[in-house]
Amino acid sequence: MKGQDWYQADEVAEEYDDVRFSGGGALIDRREKEAVLSALGPIEEGHRVLEVACGTGRFTTMLADQGADIVGLDISREMLEQGREKAADAGLSDRVEFMRGDASRLPFPDDHFDTVVAMRFFHLMDEPLQFMTELRRVSSDQVFFDTFNARSLRVLYTWLLPMGSRLYSERQVAEMLRAADLTLAGEEHDFVLPYGFYRELPGAVAGPFRFLDELIGNTIPGDYVASVSYWDARVPDEA
Ligand SMILES: C[S@@+](CC[C@H](N)C(=O)[O-])C[C@H]1O[C@@H](n2cnc3c(N)ncnc32)[C@H](O)[C@@H]1O
Repeated sequence: MKGQDWYQADEVAEEYDDVRFSGGGALIDRREKEAVLSALGPIEEGHRVLEVACGTGRFTTMLADQGADIVGLDISREMLEQGREKAADAGLSDRVEFMRGDASRLPFPDDHFDTVVAMRFFHLMDEPLQFMTELRRVSSDQVFFDTFNARSLRVLYTWLLPMGSRLYSERQVAEMLRAADLTLAGEEHDFVLPYGFYRELPGAVAGPFRFLDELIGNTIPGDYVASVSYWDARVPDEA
């Protein structure tokens, strides 16, 4: 599995947030957090959330702050350590549990969580359906995740990435959801200019590009070539 080894290195974990989410990358962090917050809606106290492949806890910490009863699970001790530090810095250590585990064998009973979130995860997976089925198994209501898209400028550089990157078409995602017995409640497509582009820019320069990107993205052709999709899937009601 591509990401599993890569994220075990101390320096990868320590630099993860800075490399991706400083400068122009801050716009990406903001957009991803908006996507998660808008899909989950107002969080009722005690809403049970699992974040799979939580990494440095960007979303785990944010959702704990919103009142979720949350577990962040990741296979990398080093990434989890960054997450624990982030939660401690935010004064949220007592509201979040970080746990080491493999997303293909989640250590929870069926339907244990209300919502399962998995961000920046599916591009690393060789067996995505197996993972999706496992996310579905432990969720009683919602599975929220993102994918990187095959029909986008990301194809220009994705093969250069040290941990590789699997790209998806809408049809593949739809098939995966069907096979995992999930229904689609919402989808958003964004970033005609892919993440890698923004990461290379200083924040002040990235802003105008993002403005243009959003203008183009808000058109049907823009959706068609967006590099990222955010998917809000639901467990069907029992008949
Ligand atoms: C690109 S990072 C994303 C981290 C976080 N979700 C974010 O968006 O910042 C991918 C994460 O997946 C984790 N990972 C890879 N394979 C995994 C597996 N089989 N089970 C759980 N986590 C895994 C890695 O350790 C890493 O933290």
